[in-house]
Amino acid sequence: MKLTYLLLGAYATLAVALPHPAPVEEEYDDDIEEIEACPAPIPTSHSTTSVATHPATSKTTHASTTVVSTVVPSATVPAKHSSGGNPFTSNGVKAGLSGYPAIGRTAPAAMSAYSEYIGWYSDYTPITPDIGNVQGIPMLWGDGDTCTSSTDVTERVAEFEKAIQTSTPKMMFGFYEPDCNCPMSSDMSDPVVGAQKWNSMLAPLASRGTVLGSPSMCRQSAESWLTPFKNAGLHADWEVTSIHVNVANLAGVQKDVEYYAAKYGKPIWVSEFACVHAGNGFFNPCTDQGEIDNFINTVVPWLEANKTVVAYGASNGAGLGSTWPLISGGKLTHTGNTYLNALKNLK
Ligand SMILES: *[C@@H]1O[C@H](CO)[C@@H](O)[C@H](O)[C@H]1NC(C)=O
Repeated sequence: MKLTYLLLGAYATLAVALPHPAPVEEEYDDDIEEIEACPAPIPTSHSTTSVATHPATSKTTHASTTVVSTVVPSATVPAKHSSGGNPFTSNGVKAGLSGYPAIGRTAPAAMSAYSEYIGWYSDYTPITPDIGNVQGIPMLWGDGDTCTSSTDVTERVAEFEKAIQTSTPKMMFGFYEPDCNCPMSSDMSDPVVGAQKWNSMLAPLASRGTVLGSPSMCRQSAESWLTPFKNAGLHADWEVTSIHVNVANLAGVQKDVEYYAAKYGKPIWVSEFACVHAGNGFFNPCTDQGEIDNFINTVVPWLEANKTVVAYGASNGAGLGSTWPLISGGKLTHTGNTYLNALKNLK
């Protein structure tokens, strides 16, 4: 997948230099059914930084997570906030940010700019500290059995095992895109094995009160992993379906949300969204700033208003081209400011 991705990345780079063809939206919509390409969320350098520095921050994290979980019981009733807010975060705010490892420390100014308008963030790691009122939602990336050349993956499992001995996360995301190849996704190709790992690693947390987010699928509405995973017999079901949305218009977002809502019947947590022209074998992040701005300004109000969606967060993961990323060098980019302003306009 990485090779494919690099090739697609090369295509995307070319597309920047060449006149951008007018998007053929119907074609993309049809192709979304057969998405093969995956987003690539984690630069190795970030991961290394994160692993190296976690021990220093983990104590604080554990303490605050424990406090939160005793004050706010596991919420299972999305209607708690009549405004359609997020019943799973401490402050009820639906909007969030899917960042990158160590984002809280490497981009404090950007996080501070967002902090008043977001309720949660993810940094892809099993220990995600709260930042003020912004709830950090940890993730168990994978089972540690694949991509062993990437120490990151196995170290995250060890970090996870260690962290849950002394703390119970209020909420936790399941495996990251087990339906796509490593190293950009967790690559747990057999959903039955995925279910065994879920049962041994994550299900015990549910009985301790952790709200579990489903494994997130890379293939969007073309996924075929979650159903056999579920049918393999889960000791604890997920409470919210965590989904990744990489499309280029509102219709694509609605299609993904509808698919997961209808198929799995759970509240939808859009844990990543980005403007991408994706289809069968291609994954081209949007390069046109106007298109990106329009995408954000159209999609955010819809996600905010729709009650099936309990949370949503723009993705700042890697592999999304040079125009989409929200934060660069610790500062908000044009796109980052567009997302911030879209959130401000909701108030
Ligand atoms: C919210 O999303 C669900 C699932 O996509 C859809 O069925 C419903 O019509 C949407 N509601 C509104 C008000 O758009």
